[in-house]
Amino acid sequence: MIKQTVFGTTKDGREVKEYTVENANGMSFSAIEFGAVITRIFVKDKNGELADVVLGFDSVQDYENDDTYLGAVVGRYANRIGNATFTLNGVEYQLDKNDNNNHLHGGYNGYEKRVWTSENFTEENGEGVKFMLVSEDGDQGYPGKLEIAVKYTLTNNNELIIEYTGMSDKDTICNLTNHSYFNLAGHDSGDVLNQLVWLNSDFITEADEASITTGKLVDVKGTPMDFTTETAIGDRIDADYYQIKFGAGYDHNWVIKSYEKGKMNLTATLRDKASGRKMEVYTDLPGVQVYSGNFLKARIPGKNQAKYTRRTGVCFETQYYPDSINKPEFPSPVLKAGEEYKTTTIYKFIVQLGLFGDDMENNNFFAMLSRMKYINRWGLMRNTIHENISEHSLDVAIIAHALATFSN
Ligand code: GLA
Repeated sequence: MIKQTVFGTTKDGREVKEYTVENANGMSFSAIEFGAVITRIFVKDKNGELADVVLGFDSVQDYENDDTYLGAVVGRYANRIGNATFTLNGVEYQLDKNDNNNHLHGGYNGYEKRVWTSENFTEENGEGVKFMLVSEDGDQGYPGKLEIAVKYTLTNNNELIIEYTGMSDKDTICNLTNHSYFNLAGHDSGDVLNQLVWLNSDFITEADEASITTGKLVDVKGTPMDFTTETAIGDRIDADYYQIKFGAGYDHNWVIKSYEKGKMNLTATLRDKASGRKMEVYTDLPGVQVYSGNFLKARIPGKNQAKYTRRTGVCFETQYYPDSINKPEFPSPVLKAGEEYKTTTIYKFIVQLGLFGDDMENNNFFAMLSRMKYINRWGLMRNTIHENISEHSLDVAIIAHALATFSN
């Protein structure tokens, strides 16, 4: 079901439409023409209660005044370009220095501050809305007239699929991402430090004090950057580690394992134990910036007057690596004239039914075993398990089930 309303008007008098799309499970998202911002994502918890799991504002003015990119699509080049300059085909381009000496998220006139055009659609795998923008030749200092579209599809598998497409009439660079801040306990529930993150990554791109990549990859093993096993965001966020200090917490690019251009990968998960909500992030891009909202300051009140203070949301910005145009050793963000730019990112939401979740959490296999005895239908158990626990735990659960069966 799609509903279209007027969200508000920009300060120069342009009307901004909002779309709300709901699937068969009662999950919904809303997005507006201003910045192609995702304003709301309502997801159920283990008791079927809905909560809005992204930070956002109630008015266009708040989005106009915001400097934290809440929910928006950022571009033409998401993340940083060192010294705000790059050379392409022998020509040097100068960009805005809006982040110290560097360029961040397209500079002072980012795509998050534009009014996009829109159309809604209903397709076989879901319904949604597509936002379109024309970025003229020379816009923000980049070469080439770039026409882009961002398509949000909500499926009945609780996936929010984001497809970015585009084409430029000259060689250029392009790196579009979504800057949603997630808080699976609800946008107004305080910090995300207890929420658990897993990342499909063994390396980060090392950053300097200004968050510019050095070109080096750092193995995460034995460091606070290691999320190869699920870990709470807050556990090591203030650790005495040079990368953490440079980012004032997590604000780094993780190198996605088994990246292949065009291939979708499970990249990250975020989980809130208390509510049973879990999110999986898939992308075909080589990197993901995990940003723990270190610079949020509640300067502007959020939806329903919520206070978005430091670390009350976490972003998973799928991307080409920061400053990759100046680092030939990194996957290239160059978009050739006339070639299609096409990348996909999926935020998928899962509800953990709570049957095994907490027991598994505490490694309390005895409690789990005694519950399992009452579940004889393998299919039911398998589905429940699949929804509830990680791959590794699945093995353990299967062994436990076998034990339970034989001890009867
Ligand atoms: C990105 C950057 C952060 C910060 C936010 C916006 O995630 O990596 O350093 O600039 O955007 O506040």
